Amino acid sequence: MSVANETFNSILAQPESCFPLELGKRNRNIGKLLRASLTAQWNPATIIDWDGLDLKPFTDEQRQALRVRWSRRAWGEYGAIAESPALQIRFCHDRLDADTRLYFAVRTQEESRHAEISYRLAEKFGGYIDAPAEEYLGSVSTHGIRRLALDVDVPVESTIAALVCSAEQVILENFMHVLKLTTQPDIRRVYQLILRDEARHCAFGWYFMAGRLPLLTPAQRGQVRDAVVTMIEKVELNGYQLAWLAPDSNASRDQIEGDRILWQAGLGASVEELEKPVLISSLRAIRDRMKREWDIQLPVFHHPKTGQI
Ligand SMILES: [Fe+2]
Ligand SMILES: [Fe+2]
Repeated sequence: MSVANETFNSILAQPESCFPLELGKRNRNIGKLLRASLTAQWNPATIIDWDGLDLKPFTDEQRQALRVRWSRRAWGEYGAIAESPALQIRFCHDRLDADTRLYFAVRTQEESRHAEISYRLAEKFGGYIDAPAEEYLGSVSTHGIRRLALDVDVPVESTIAALVCSAEQVILENFMHVLKLTTQPDIRRVYQLILRDEARHCAFGWYFMAGRLPLLTPAQRGQVRDAVVTMIEKVELNGYQLAWLAPDSNASRDQIEGDRILWQAGLGASVEELEKPVLISSLRAIRDRMKREWDIQLPVFHHPKTGQI
């Protein structure tokens, strides 16, 4: 999503009012996710036997590729931590049900452990890289959610539809695919842990939208659609997750090459020829589901590497 600096109608400019604080308004399905999250905690510092992870079987090339891959993963996960608190403020501002407000706090904490475990993996394999190369920055810098979440004129439903039901859904399906190709036990374990959390995050998005869509005006439904289209076209198809979708540069080629080295060794990555059909079927499934459940029609998407989707 574009990062606009123009002034906008921010909820932060409105008077703060917490009361009456209704905590009895519930969303049962999201409440179940909240309780599932609370019983599925894990600690990135101890869930992997970091000292026991023997680096000898890995070639220098593989270590470097792992370092790059997990640094990139950390940048992506950090995006969720950097932007989610703004949504938390918005949920409270909009006086949404208690389960949604409480669940999202836990969701942000889950993203923080994804960032931490990605950082730890990058460190283990040679050192976390703290910023993307300049030419790759545009693909991984931001979803632009922070500003949208605080903009009174943008319904929060459009942000959740884009961020969760589109972007996180695409990641979930890509990770399920990558997990099947991964044989190294510690890296498999990390994917399994992240995937379990991400499955709940995606479920949250669809439950949330099911409860909120009937309340939206036709204009707001149009904003939901536009936000999803922007997320898919400007973020996902610009290489936020999949480096081969990013504009061609030395930096994106390095990422692609690294992923190929890891894929060949079962070390937790995939390649364009295998990821492409997974991406296409994810986007088609999202389009079908939004039509079926929301009566919102997404357009055909296009990328030079995939053709029409
Ligand atoms: Fe995550
Ligand atoms: Fe997530």
